[in-house]
Amino acid sequence: AFESITQAPPDPILGVSEAFKADTSSDKLNLGVGAYRTEDIKPYVLDVVKKAEKLMLENGENKEYLPIEGLADFNKATVALLLGSDNKAVKDGRVATIQSLSGTGSLRLGAAFLARFYPGRTVFLSNPTWGNHKNIFADAGVEWKEYRYFNPATIGLDFEGMMADIEAAPNGSVIVLHGCAHNPTGIDPTPEQWSKIADLIEKKNHLPFFDVAYQGFASGSLDEDAASVRLFVERGFELLVAQSYSKNLGLYAERIGALNAVLPTADLATKVKSQLKRLARALYSNPPVHGARIVAYVVGNNDIFDEWKQEMAGMAGRIQAVRATLVEELKKRDTKGRDWSFITSQIGMFSFTGLKPAQVENMTKKWHVYMTKDGRISLAGLNKARAGYLADAMIDSFDN
Ligand code: LMR
Repeated sequence: AFESITQAPPDPILGVSEAFKADTSSDKLNLGVGAYRTEDIKPYVLDVVKKAEKLMLENGENKEYLPIEGLADFNKATVALLLGSDNKAVKDGRVATIQSLSGTGSLRLGAAFLARFYPGRTVFLSNPTWGNHKNIFADAGVEWKEYRYFNPATIGLDFEGMMADIEAAPNGSVIVLHGCAHNPTGIDPTPEQWSKIADLIEKKNHLPFFDVAYQGFASGSLDEDAASVRLFVERGFELLVAQSYSKNLGLYAERIGALNAVLPTADLATKVKSQLKRLARALYSNPPVHGARIVAYVVGNNDIFDEWKQEMAGMAGRIQAVRATLVEELKKRDTKGRDWSFITSQIGMFSFTGLKPAQVENMTKKWHVYMTKDGRISLAGLNKARAGYLADAMIDSFDN
């Protein structure tokens, strides 16, 4: 039955981790996947997560099925974290929230919803974007195109290009926006630019679909990082938001996140929720409970919440310090006087270096530095001790 099947290419991000594992060099460095590491380049389980897990054991929590829409306490906490605890849309019952399988699963559920209830529309993705966005929409049978986002000349946002492409998109298109810490560029619109983007999306009657995977990792403030989404909700948009707790709570493997649909009326929100449940039931039945309990405990609990913020600030601060060290090391070695300031001005976990595919190949083949082909490096996977080595590899690759 399957004789004609050909080999699928490795995943552009997770495939890099596989290649890294297979490399036996002691110099190797994995800057591919966006996963936080400690200053010893070790995975990190947050203390607040350990506390939540201890409590779960003490309480003797069972492993019964969750309802299709997920854990009620999680759903309440997650939408409050996103939109603010006294958000009017939430109070009015206009937000349908479904616990789903982290960022990817929530986006995929949203894509399935669009395929069924908003057919024939095109989804517009930033160019570049997170590698999985294209797969997610394509696999759900939703056509995607791109809008300009990155200007290689300035290593900054191509705001004019972005606006022109959103303007040129057919009215009523779906516009995917990264809520904060744009992946892979680490470049976000300013608040003024967000407001202009909102004006244009309103004028064009487009549907915004936010991907919020790094709340707390961009500015260091959970509220500030949600400002883009909150602006659109305050302005009365109908919209979708996917949330992930992989990065900010380090719950990568727990697959915990949510899809939120903000609707014009409570009645519609109830109906949309019922349809999202129907879609989720066929896709994966109901979501996993472990991560949901952790999030409900941490996000829904004032004392622990402050401790979480401190731990997040610690993670974000370490990445910032590594960015600064890398720039110092690059400057020490660079005989051409290039401008490296983009490394410290870009935010979140990543730096978009501008390394071309052949140069990326040099990074990996010669230097055993693993990164995605688009030139993105995850600074969350670097420490100060290895910054000099990375600087050597980068200078050598840029010069080739
Ligand atoms: C990344 O961009 O590296 C992360 O979002 C991990 C992933 O799932 O691709």
